[in-house]
Amino acid sequence: MVRHFTDLFDLSPDSARELIGRALTLKRKFEAGERPDYLARRTLGLFFEKPSLRTRVSFEAAIAQLGGSAVFLRAKDVGMGVRESVADFARIISQYVDALAVRTFAQTTIEELARHASIPIVNALSDAAHPCQALADVMTIQETLGRLEGVKLVFVGDGNNVARSLAMTSALLGLEFVLAAPSEYEFPTHFRERYQARFPGIPLTVVHDPREAVDGADVVYTDVWASMGQEHEAEERNAAFTPFQVSEDLLQAAGRDAIFFHCLPARRGEEVTSDVLDGPRSRVIAQAANRLHFQKALLIWLMLDEWPAQQGGEKG
Ligand code: CP
Ligand code: NVA
Repeated sequence: MVRHFTDLFDLSPDSARELIGRALTLKRKFEAGERPDYLARRTLGLFFEKPSLRTRVSFEAAIAQLGGSAVFLRAKDVGMGVRESVADFARIISQYVDALAVRTFAQTTIEELARHASIPIVNALSDAAHPCQALADVMTIQETLGRLEGVKLVFVGDGNNVARSLAMTSALLGLEFVLAAPSEYEFPTHFRERYQARFPGIPLTVVHDPREAVDGADVVYTDVWASMGQEHEAEERNAAFTPFQVSEDLLQAAGRDAIFFHCLPARRGEEVTSDVLDGPRSRVIAQAANRLHFQKALLIWLMLDEWPAQQGGEKG
């Protein structure tokens, strides 16, 4: 059966832990100058309907460093759903590449691709989820704090794709997740219902006061207030989210050892101040760096039947 990575509802805690452990091992190898060609002559397709820096380049570099190559497909050139149906596109692309990373608007597009493709489909961000980001972030937390269980991760901002994937990753790996958001920008009901069905007994906590939310936080995380595709809502969102800006003052309320995360790109002076983003608690560059290592582990897991024997193991 083909393995996909379309969302986190189907990922087991063991697989999540294994991916993070393998990613940490691959990172150590990379830092020691080793670039084993575990995916020699494999090809990764990337189909993107939205802009990207980190995701595109880290996937292209990941497959290249593993001995394979990438083909980048800009949505408007390919015309999926316009020149031909999504199903036809999925069946054809499956003849040429070994896996396809997709950045799109509707989560249903990714699911439709997965239904018709005979290769792994990877969610490289949709309006509903950003699973590669969340898993790489948890890898960064493991690396920085040396633990995951019981870590308090507070996401201050919109209950968006990144927040939802972080909430699920936290539930999978034993972190305590809190969303601090204005009431009109909490998680949507359909997500809450699916989350509760998947993780019965693990609360999906939402707090409306950001200072109260960050109390005792180990990690304070934020993201833009208007995601790609929501630019026309920016004005009303800015008004609602202004009290949720992550500033030095808010970070003080989190406690002395709290670290700061942002998936980037950031809008300085909106969801985060420059002194926080560039300050000593910020781990945003490490987060971006770990996208490369996590996605290497992910591509190996999706493209090979077994982990390469010489890779060894490491617990996440
Ligand atoms: N964090 C992230 O996914 O960045 P890009 O949009 O640049 O890929
Ligand atoms: N929530 C943001 C994340 C960008 C990486 C967006 O979807 O635009």
